Amino acid sequence: MAPTDLGAIPRHVRWTPHHSVGVEEIDAQHRELFRRVDLFLAALSEKRGRRELEPLIKYLKSYVHEHFAEEQQLMEFSGYPDLGDHLEEHHGFEARFGVLAEELSRTGPTLGLARRLVALLVGWLEQHLATTDRRFGLYLSKFRAHRTRKPSA
Ligand SMILES: [Fe+2]
Ligand SMILES: [Fe+2]
Repeated sequence: MAPTDLGAIPRHVRWTPHHSVGVEEIDAQHRELFRRVDLFLAALSEKRGRRELEPLIKYLKSYVHEHFAEEQQLMEFSGYPDLGDHLEEHHGFEARFGVLAEELSRTGPTLGLARRLVALLVGWLEQHLATTDRRFGLYLSKFRAHRTRKPSA
C-alpha cells in the first residue's frame, strides 16, 4: 500500500452516544466492538503486515461472535418477533467477514482488501447499529419496562 493511499483508510472509529441503542449492556458490548475494530484499523492504516493483522482480526472476530450470540439470547428471551431477520444480518456479516479474513491471510493487506474491510467493519456496523440493533433496543426497553410495571401476584 503506497503512503498516498492511506487517506482512504480511516485510522479510528469510536463509539459515541449517537450509537446508543438504549440498552446499557448492548451499548457496552458495542463499545468493546468499536474498540477492537479501532485496534485493527489503526494497524491497517499503519501498514502493518499480515502477521500483525491476523491476531487482531481473530481478536475482533471472536468478540463479534460473542456479541451476536448475546444479542440472540436477549432476542430469544424477550420473544423478539424480528429475530429471524436480525440473525440473517448477523450471519451475513460473519460470512463476509470470514471471506475477507481468509483473503487477508492469503494475500496480505492490499489496498483493495483494506477498503472492503473498512466498508464492512465501519459501514455495516454503523448501519446495523443505527437500524437493526436500535429497533431491537427499543423493543427490549419496552419489554423490560412492561415486566417491571407488572404487579407481583
Ligand atoms: Fe449489536
Ligand atoms: Fe445485531
